[in-house]
Amino acid sequence: MLSYQHEYHAGNHADVLKHAVFVRVLQALAGKDKPLRVLDAHAGSGLYDLGSREARRHAEHAGGIARVLAAADPPPALVPYLEAVRACNGGRSLRRYPGSPWLAHSLLRPADHLVLMELHPRALGMLRRLYGRDPQVHVHERDSFEGLPALLPPPERRGLVLIDPSYELKDDYARVTGLLADCHRRWPTGVFLLWYPLVRGRAGERLPARVAALGMRRVYHIAIEVEGRGFDGMRGSGMLAVNLPFGLDTELAALAPWLWRTLATQGRGGPRAGWLVPE
Ligand SMILES: C[S@@+](CC[C@H](N)C(=O)[O-])C[C@H]1O[C@@H](n2cnc3c(N)ncnc32)[C@H](O)[C@@H]1O
Repeated sequence: MLSYQHEYHAGNHADVLKHAVFVRVLQALAGKDKPLRVLDAHAGSGLYDLGSREARRHAEHAGGIARVLAAADPPPALVPYLEAVRACNGGRSLRRYPGSPWLAHSLLRPADHLVLMELHPRALGMLRRLYGRDPQVHVHERDSFEGLPALLPPPERRGLVLIDPSYELKDDYARVTGLLADCHRRWPTGVFLLWYPLVRGRAGERLPARVAALGMRRVYHIAIEVEGRGFDGMRGSGMLAVNLPFGLDTELAALAPWLWRTLATQGRGGPRAGWLVPE
């Protein structure tokens, strides 16, 4: 039984990095007039009430989305994500935080489809309440390690996969690498985003090198650490983007230092952005 609940973490610095990249990539893909499919393999609840007991417990959004919304001159890569967060709050103050399903759904065009996979009963209940009647959204109660490869390639042959597990089990780091390799073999032209946390231990740090060794081309890496190495929690996180759409590398290279300056605690940590494996 999974115990992780994203309600405790919604809108934190890791969500900001992950969702800014996710929205910008999806926006770029939607710029072409062809249907696409978004597969969110670890969907979470879709939408978070920042006034809930869980969200208020550590108020992680205060050090994440709240800071970013208050900062001046956001870089272009961040703008569509900030617009989506504002739209989710009806243009008023920050009370709700959109998860990846909500963000993806907000960018769907009439011929696009969104597939959501989840195993936690509470998150599944919320996803069904939000999207159960929407013919463009398909909620699957399914283990993504088995279910995601089975759905690839999608009928549209264009689209985006988000791999964002909770890393509750130690071997999740090895499993995501295998999952990414399998998915890419089935769908070499798909765009894949893999998120990973930087916590104690070196499993997160080692993940980019493991992915680089898979033999895929066009893999971009963006990460920020907002705390120093001794920090006893999640000090940062990263995203690996396979088949990043053309032109986004320069935008993401500007996003990383801006996010780090805005989110880091007293200049600790640092940003990183660049091609892990070029064309
Ligand atoms: C980090 S949260 C997802 C957050 C969400 N993607 C977002 O950005 O808003 C990870 C989610 O993955 C779910 N999960 C963990 N292992 C899973 C698996 N094997 N298959 C499907 N879902 C899984 C957890 O229940 C949890 O809700």
